[in-house]
Amino acid sequence: MVNYKDLGLVNTREMFKKAVAGGYAIPAFNFNTMEQMQAIVQAAVETKSPVIMQVSKGARNYANATILRYMAEGAVQYAKELGCAHPEIVLHLDHGDSFELCKDCIDMGFSSVMIDGSSLPYEDNIALTKKVVEYAHKYDVTVEAELGVLAGVEDEVVAEESHYTKPEEVIDFATRTGCDSLAISIGTSHGAYKFKPEQCTRDPKTGRLVPPPLAFDVLHEIEKKLPGFPIVLHGSSSVPQEEVDTINKFGGNLPDAVGIPEEQLREASKSAVCKINIDSDSRLAMTAAIRKYMAEHPDHFDPRQYLKPARENMKKMYIHKIVNVLGSDGKLAC
Ligand code: G3H
Ligand code: 13P
Ligand code: ZN
Repeated sequence: MVNYKDLGLVNTREMFKKAVAGGYAIPAFNFNTMEQMQAIVQAAVETKSPVIMQVSKGARNYANATILRYMAEGAVQYAKELGCAHPEIVLHLDHGDSFELCKDCIDMGFSSVMIDGSSLPYEDNIALTKKVVEYAHKYDVTVEAELGVLAGVEDEVVAEESHYTKPEEVIDFATRTGCDSLAISIGTSHGAYKFKPEQCTRDPKTGRLVPPPLAFDVLHEIEKKLPGFPIVLHGSSSVPQEEVDTINKFGGNLPDAVGIPEEQLREASKSAVCKINIDSDSRLAMTAAIRKYMAEHPDHFDPRQYLKPARENMKKMYIHKIVNVLGSDGKLAC
């Protein structure tokens, strides 16, 4: 049993309180590789931003759970080495799907876990979330729960269509589970294809898809029911079209990839939304840089040669999100 405090990590409690009061959101970036971890830490330190580094079940399968946990511990030390004496880094389990997985993460040093019971019947979601909360709170680990179903793939949870969170359920759910934050469904979804072309209009000038707006009315209803309660948005990549264009130019094939417009995420960040999850944009930034590098340097084969620009491109994207979209820059004394 390792407590996250011994690794220099923090939980989300104070972080979210300040974010809700200050009208900004904390970036929650997924990581699977050392280059993603380095880019996240460099971006957070350079912008003096708190940050949530999150690990999915898929990431644990890919990279090995122990390695990821040591990478997070390394991230704290790396932030200090980069000049931030007091970094605020959360190690969070993304889309935990069982009590056992959450417990395993808590026992190995995670400071925050998500229990995603959103595909379960309401009462079962409450029972599972409550069980995780009871265990997590013994170790001062914070818990994110989810109510409502996002369209697309939620790890192994596949929803045919999204079901917006019902504002009339949130008080009962938050009170009975004791969760610390709540992921809601207001029209975001996972991946680089968030909307089908038939759900969008097309910009006549660029020919690009224009997605339907998020359901801000549902968000505001939820805020009214739970004043000051931390709300989380999953599926919040904006799918930058310049990265999609680069991928397609250098041999990729991502037609009509579309994300959430950044203006809407900026607006959401000013509300009770205090955690915004971004994974796909990092994947796109990495892939675009690697495809371009490889096409331009067909004779290179040292992975460091193409992973370096990939890391730089992810860092640029993380800094952009922190400074221009979420507004979490300058919130640390460091
Ligand atoms: O919400 C899902 C995250 O993007 C993690 O994706 O399960 O492929 O690691 P993954
Ligand atoms: P994106 O696929 O939009 O990056 O969402 C990531 C996410 O919600 C991780 O939980
Ligand atoms: Zn998610």
